[in-house]
Amino acid sequence: EKGGFDHFMLKEIYEQPRAIKDTFRGRLRPNEGIIKMAGVDQNLERLLNANRIIIAACGTSWHAGLVAEYIFEDLARIPVEVEYASEFRYRNPVITDKDVLIAISQSGETADTLAAIKLAKERGAFVFGVCNVVGSSIARETHAGAYTHAGPEIGVASTKAFTTQITVLTLLALKLAQEKGTYSKSRFREILTEIEGIPHKVEKVLESNPLIEIIAAAYKDASNFLYLGRGYNFPVALEGALKLKEISYIHAEGYPAAEMKHGPIALIDEHMPVVVIATKKGHYEKVVSNIQEIKSRKGKIIAVVTEGDVQVRELADHVIEVPECSESLSPLLTTIPLQLLSYHIAVMRGCNVDQPRNLAKSVTVE
Ligand code: M6R
Repeated sequence: EKGGFDHFMLKEIYEQPRAIKDTFRGRLRPNEGIIKMAGVDQNLERLLNANRIIIAACGTSWHAGLVAEYIFEDLARIPVEVEYASEFRYRNPVITDKDVLIAISQSGETADTLAAIKLAKERGAFVFGVCNVVGSSIARETHAGAYTHAGPEIGVASTKAFTTQITVLTLLALKLAQEKGTYSKSRFREILTEIEGIPHKVEKVLESNPLIEIIAAAYKDASNFLYLGRGYNFPVALEGALKLKEISYIHAEGYPAAEMKHGPIALIDEHMPVVVIATKKGHYEKVVSNIQEIKSRKGKIIAVVTEGDVQVRELADHVIEVPECSESLSPLLTTIPLQLLSYHIAVMRGCNVDQPRNLAKSVTVE
């Protein structure tokens, strides 16, 4: 049932090329230059007339929402607010019938997300769901939606659900961008073709697994970790830190790299591993100077870089390469090494990777 893997989590990490492909297959038509999504096509007016999009979710799905904020604003020029469902539902939020709420949930059963949907519906918003489990409560409660086709996710730590959520949200943003005309036709075709190439690039990233295992062995006894990223890769830093906390019980925090000097830099010494996402297209020079700041305080640097990088390689203690890609698609690649790093650290610490203590796969109570 684990397909030859030691744990469901590892199997699910390795399923990502297939899961991402299944999620865009049938929706993406690069030759015709279109994206087909039934739930979007049938509600196009409502989605295009949105004054803003509110995204509500919890945990890893909330991180996918943060990535989507960058995508929607950057590509479709629609203002986005990303909310913890648990805060949103109790805040008496301002919602109008011009708002669109996107609820993201792997299980489709998360109590707080479900309550956020009900509240938004009562106040007239149009509610769009991004779920993995077909026929789940959230899938039924939303006006329309688009499924991720990740397949069953058994490991409590979400992996393939996250990358497939990002895939669906990217398609949705691109489709709205195309309808709104905020994106040039040629660039649109280019990015569709690039999406088609992502599963192969994810496979390339997975080839770094033996190297990541060596890095894991060097830091498995650390008591703290910092994760840093900017732009599209800031939410990836949050997600990397959550993965490590959940399954290895090591305290970890994710931060936007530039926030480091507003506090967390005080934590850095020779015992602090810092995972930095430093790919070429995302504010690269600025991240390099953040890395220099860490180095001068003797922090240990594990950097996720673009293939062929030289500058960061000179500064970092370890580099993990990912293939080159557009910044907007880079979270689909940069997330993978962080999943593997937390997996190996947790295994080396003897933790129950698939069923970490105190956690449930779907949180049906608030
Ligand atoms: O099923 P959902 O996507 O609604 O679940 C949300 C969170 O409970 C979930 O992502 C949780 O944070 C995971 N254990 C993270 O790996």
